[in-house]
Amino acid sequence: MTTRILLTGGTGQLGRNLALALQELGKMKVPARAEFDLASPTSMRRMLDEWRPGLIVNAAAYTAVDRAESEPELALAVNGAAPAAMAGWAARNDAAIVHYSTDYVFDGAAPRAYREDDKTGPISVYGASKLTGEAAVRDSGADHLIIRTSWLYAAQGQNFLHTILRLARERETLCIVDDQTGAPTSAQWLARISARIIAKPPFAGDRSGVLHAAAAGSVSWHGFACAIVERARARGWPVKVETISPIPTSGYPTPAARPRNSVLDLDRLGRVYGIVPTPWREQLDAALDRIAPSMEG
Ligand SMILES: NC(=O)c1ccc[n+]([C@@H]2O[C@H](COP(=O)([O-])OP(=O)(O)OC[C@H]3O[C@@H](n4cnc5c(N)ncnc54)[C@H](OP(=O)(O)O)[C@@H]3O)[C@@H](O)[C@H]2O)c1
Repeated sequence: MTTRILLTGGTGQLGRNLALALQELGKMKVPARAEFDLASPTSMRRMLDEWRPGLIVNAAAYTAVDRAESEPELALAVNGAAPAAMAGWAARNDAAIVHYSTDYVFDGAAPRAYREDDKTGPISVYGASKLTGEAAVRDSGADHLIIRTSWLYAAQGQNFLHTILRLARERETLCIVDDQTGAPTSAQWLARISARIIAKPPFAGDRSGVLHAAAAGSVSWHGFACAIVERARARGWPVKVETISPIPTSGYPTPAARPRNSVLDLDRLGRVYGIVPTPWREQLDAALDRIAPSMEG
């Protein structure tokens, strides 16, 4: 029997790519926010009862990290209560759930890459809300997988990659934070490896729980910005910037604190799922290839 898949967040960076990558795996429904609002338990219940998915893939989230500091109730409703409701429905209806989470569940103080079972300790409202969602999915009793990723960007959408490409066109000098380290991860890559994982259920036993999935390697935001600009210049794209200065986090104050170390240990991804993560530089080049027609057209 064909699996019925409900994919949330279809307009987001990851959701848009998942909508393509999961096409072959079942009959898919990708409801708009108006039909399936994570802040409205009634609208979620109605859609779940009508569509009766065998698999819920939750790529929707409240992702405005800084705004969450002043909207904690909404962040918690969307990132905590909604995954709880979806996973609860899955448990009662013999369905499974794949849920996405973040490196921001950690405090970033570790001197090495974070493993799946390392102690969490979010330092922002967003991180705390995502951790609440993780716990609810884990404790729901449903077959589940929680995929934690980091520093997500896509060829489409608002993200660091597009911001740097724009600023590099407009300004001669950029100041970019150099004391936060992570692995910039392409949403297209994450969607594709998610499809490989989702193609092999069940999400039970050793194939359940938390999984770290991100690009291989690590870099600071400053290093990532330099790589973007270097490649844009090499491709002949408009670049005005001459100096990219490294600055400390304290030089770019934001409402929400961010982990200094966002690097995720990727051992389990290879060991259990046989997936070798692509280095972040290769993922960046692939994303730039997709952007190229709009830059060069
Ligand atoms: N972005 C990152 O750097 C990053 C890093 C680590 C982990 N993650 C995690 O990765 C996942 C995907 O992130 P992303 O970057 O693809 O997110 P995104 O581009 O910000 O997209 C978020 C999606 O969630 C939807 N959404 C938000 N509130 C909703 C609501 N109340 N009801 C229904 N839909 C709602 C949005 O719909 P609208 O278009 O209607 O707003 C959009 O489709 C999330 O779980 C996120 O926490 C992201």
